[in-house]
Amino acid sequence: MTRYVIANWKMHGGLQRNAEFFKQWHGSVHSSIRVAICVPFPYLAQLSQLSAALPAHAPVEWGAQDVSEHFEGAYTGEVSVSMLEDFACSYVIIGHSERRQYHGESSGAVARKLDRVMQSINTALQPVICVGEHLSERESGSVETVLAEQLDPVLAVLKVHPHRQALLAYEPVWAIGTGVVATPEEISETHEWIAKYAYSALGRELPILYGGSVKPDNAAGIIELPHVDGFLVGGASLKMETFIPLLDCATSIAKL
Ligand code: PGA
Repeated sequence: MTRYVIANWKMHGGLQRNAEFFKQWHGSVHSSIRVAICVPFPYLAQLSQLSAALPAHAPVEWGAQDVSEHFEGAYTGEVSVSMLEDFACSYVIIGHSERRQYHGESSGAVARKLDRVMQSINTALQPVICVGEHLSERESGSVETVLAEQLDPVLAVLKVHPHRQALLAYEPVWAIGTGVVATPEEISETHEWIAKYAYSALGRELPILYGGSVKPDNAAGIIELPHVDGFLVGGASLKMETFIPLLDCATSIAKL
């Protein structure tokens, strides 16, 4: 079974800093693990070069953190699917809560972006579709209602593309960048619910990543949970000393 460790660098990085990060790369990547770093758009070319220079036993893929819902045209500041393909991206994060929160992205807009990715003839680009509830929504017992509202338009798009790969990421908004990680019970229960919900809509399983304050000290307890296929990691992916232990953790499970 494939496990994923996907880094979301958000608006972090720099030419020199990125090069330093890769210089510290050590170890190997187990064949059943896919490692990727989603960087700000300007660094995609650099990531492809840095990754190409890594030894064959330590492959690292790269991706983007957003994409336009449009094919091309007068959309200042937007980046299209074909542009991501020009840089051989393997992943694109869609619907991250920071996009929903700070850029007003609705679930409909998220589905339109996904549809644009699915329309592409290049099947190598995989969307990582993020869903997650706010703390008040968890406290009021409406997690499933919120997740269903976010998932429905996305699953409708995936349903018409049965042969395309896609990943879901459950990221409770209250756990992102806060140091507060969801409990194993909360993660298990929610991942199981998402897995069943997606399966009943699609008739197939999708990998589901967990994201939200994943760190070396809590990763082992998360990766072993059923329906957790890997991590989407922000803060801990910025430094090699906190990123490598997450890979080690995924590797230990992959070897079982
Ligand atoms: P975090 O971010 O690991 O810093 O909580 C995760 C994310 O936003 O994808």
